[in-house]
Amino acid sequence: MASLALYRKYRPKTFAEIIGQEHVVQTLKNALAHGLVSHAYLFCGTRGSGKTTMARLLAKAVNCEKLGKDGEPCNACSACQEINGGRAMDLVEIDAASNRGIDEIRELKEGIKFMPVKLKYKVFVIDEAHQLTKEAANALLKTLEEPPAHAIFILATTETHKMIGTIMSRCQRFDFRKLRAEEMVQRLNTLAKKEHLEVEKAALELIALAAQGSLRDAESILDKVLTFQLGSGTKKKGIDADQVKELLGLVDINLVAQLAQLLVERKGKEAIGFLSSALEQGSDPYEFAKALATHLRYSLLVKISPDLENVLLAGYTKEQKERMKKQTALWEERDLQKAVELFLAAENKMKYAYIPQLPLELAIIETCERK
Ligand SMILES: Nc1ncnc2c1ncn2[C@@H]1O[C@H](COP(=O)(O)OP(=O)(O)O)[C@@H](O)[C@H]1O
Ligand SMILES: [Mg+2]
Ligand SMILES: [Zn+2]
Repeated sequence: MASLALYRKYRPKTFAEIIGQEHVVQTLKNALAHGLVSHAYLFCGTRGSGKTTMARLLAKAVNCEKLGKDGEPCNACSACQEINGGRAMDLVEIDAASNRGIDEIRELKEGIKFMPVKLKYKVFVIDEAHQLTKEAANALLKTLEEPPAHAIFILATTETHKMIGTIMSRCQRFDFRKLRAEEMVQRLNTLAKKEHLEVEKAALELIALAAQGSLRDAESILDKVLTFQLGSGTKKKGIDADQVKELLGLVDINLVAQLAQLLVERKGKEAIGFLSSALEQGSDPYEFAKALATHLRYSLLVKISPDLENVLLAGYTKEQKERMKKQTALWEERDLQKAVELFLAAENKMKYAYIPQLPLELAIIETCERK
C-alpha cells in the first residue's frame, strides 16, 4: 500500500543515503570524525536538494553517543532516536519565513543561554535565513560572534544573494547543487521498490524532468502519481509514462526533440505531419508549442555558451543531452535565433487563434523555408 508524503517517510537517516552533495557529505563526515565541528554553518541552494535533511543529520551526528569512525550517526542511541522521532527538545527548528521578527530571535537568544536539556549540543536550524528582519539578523549576528560552546547554528537559504554579508562571514558555507536527472531517477526507483510498485523508467524520467533539480518535488510528483493510480481503481500494477504525462499535463520532450530535428533538417512537410500526429495522440497544442520554444531556446543558449549546458539541461538524461548537443551543432546560429523568435511569437498568437495549431504550423513553414 502506497502512503502519502514519501519525502517524509524516506528522509535519509545516514550520510550514505544522501544523493549528490558529495563535497558537503565528505567535509562534514571528516570534521565529525575528527571532532572538528564548527558553531555556525550556512547551507545554500535550491529547494529540495537536502539542506534540512543534512541539518538534521548533522544535529544527530554531533549528539550521537556512538558516532561511527566514519562520522555516521548510529541511529540507535537515545540521542539519535529522539532526533529521528522529532522529539528532541535540543533541536530547535525555526522557519524565518514565518518567524521573521526580533521577538523570535530574542527568545532564541534567551534559549541559547540555557544548557541543552538532554543532548550534548543544542542545535538551532534557521530555515530561509535570508528572510530574517534586519533587527533579528543583527541579534543573531551578536550571538554568532560569541556562540556558547554548547550551541550550533545551521542556517539554510534558497537565496544566498539576500544573505547579510556579516552573518555569512561567521558561517562555514556549503553550496547544495540541483540534483541530476539520473540521480533522481535512481532515488525514485528505490522508493518505488520500497513501496512495491512498478514504475516504468520513462515515467520516472518524466518526473525527474518536471522536478527541475528538486528531489522533494520529484518525490511529491511520484506521490501524486501513486495516489492517482490508487484512486483510479485500475487493477494495473505498473505506472507508465503516459499516466505521468496525463497527470502532469506534460509534453513528451522526445517528441519535441524529434520535431526540432525535422526543423533543423528543413523538412517542412514532414514536420507538419509529425506535429499533427503528435496532437492527434493527445498532446496539448499550447503546451507543445511552449515545450518546443523552450527546447529551441535551450539549444540557442547552449550554442552561444556551452558552459550553460549543465545548468539548462540538468533535468535531461545523458542520451537526451547528447541528442541535444548533436542537434545544436547542426543549426546556424542566426537561423536558430530566428526560429526561437518565430516559435515564441507563435506561442503567443495561439492564445487567441481560431485554429490553435495554425500559428505553430506557420512558424514551422517559415523556419523550414528560410533562405
Ligand atoms: N540530496 C538528497 N539526497 C536524498 N534525498 C533528498 C536529497 N535532497 C532532497 N531529498 C529528499 O527530499 C526531501 C526534502 O529534502 P529537504 O532536505 O527538506 O530539502 P531542502 O531543505 O533543501 O528544501 C527529503 O526528505 C528527501 O526525501
Ligand atoms: Mg528545507
Ligand atoms: Zn547515535
